[in-house]
Amino acid sequence: MDTKKLNMVSLGPGDIDLITIKALKALKSSDAICVPTKSKDHSFQKSLTHKIVTKLMKEHNFQKPIIAVYTPMHFHQEDWQYQVDVLYKGFKQYNSLSFVTLGDSAIYSTVYYLLDIIKEQEPKLYEKSEVIAGVTSFSQASAKVKKPLCLGDSRFEIVPLLDKEVPVTTVYMRPKIGMDTDILKERGKIYTFENMNYQEESITTSKIVKVKKYMTLFIDFFQKD
Ligand SMILES: C[S@@+](CC[C@H](N)C(=O)[O-])C[C@H]1O[C@@H](n2cnc3c(N)ncnc32)[C@H](O)[C@@H]1O
Repeated sequence: MDTKKLNMVSLGPGDIDLITIKALKALKSSDAICVPTKSKDHSFQKSLTHKIVTKLMKEHNFQKPIIAVYTPMHFHQEDWQYQVDVLYKGFKQYNSLSFVTLGDSAIYSTVYYLLDIIKEQEPKLYEKSEVIAGVTSFSQASAKVKKPLCLGDSRFEIVPLLDKEVPVTTVYMRPKIGMDTDILKERGKIYTFENMNYQEESITTSKIVKVKKYMTLFIDFFQKD
């Protein structure tokens, strides 16, 4: 697996013009595209991801072999393992694969169940893998009705509609320069992101002590059990 490349590609919320250029480049440069389907017979009649991928190939004039990944959504470890095995099998034939997901991979996506397994079983493949961010369904929903998700002093929550307490991820934004981060009480694991994608980008796997730059955000990631 040393020379293999796996892209976890966010497709955006269903409008093919809302895929990122980076995601499109990843699809175009992959040897094959792994597309989830909930159909046991591996057909794509009901697969939204397949519709997006085929539309993208048509619109942007490229063709790639498609590998069906049966995704039953029962949240069983053996189902995630099955999907990872489909990727491993794909790598027997191809050097680079893209696995696609709807919206953004950070939001309730299969991607991280698969990456957790790959990290354990094929650490080199995990190291070389790349997750490509996308537009979420709720960013698109907000844009459609021209209503912000948060503005001024408001905050924004994502709540899964489940009948139980759930672990929380919190994103902290708009800090003041010079601010002491003592007030951020760590519930999971805090990372600090400064000047991301700009000069002097820094990603720290802890909470920095004092805010130095306006372009700083903190994420207190929920802890998996
Ligand atoms: C498994 S989550 C995936 C979310 C996705 N990764 C994202 O970034 O939006 C699926 C949920 O996202 C929401 N969702 C995704 N696409 C949507 C759409 N086109 N219209 C309305 N809700 C959508 C629904 O609440 C749905 O139950």
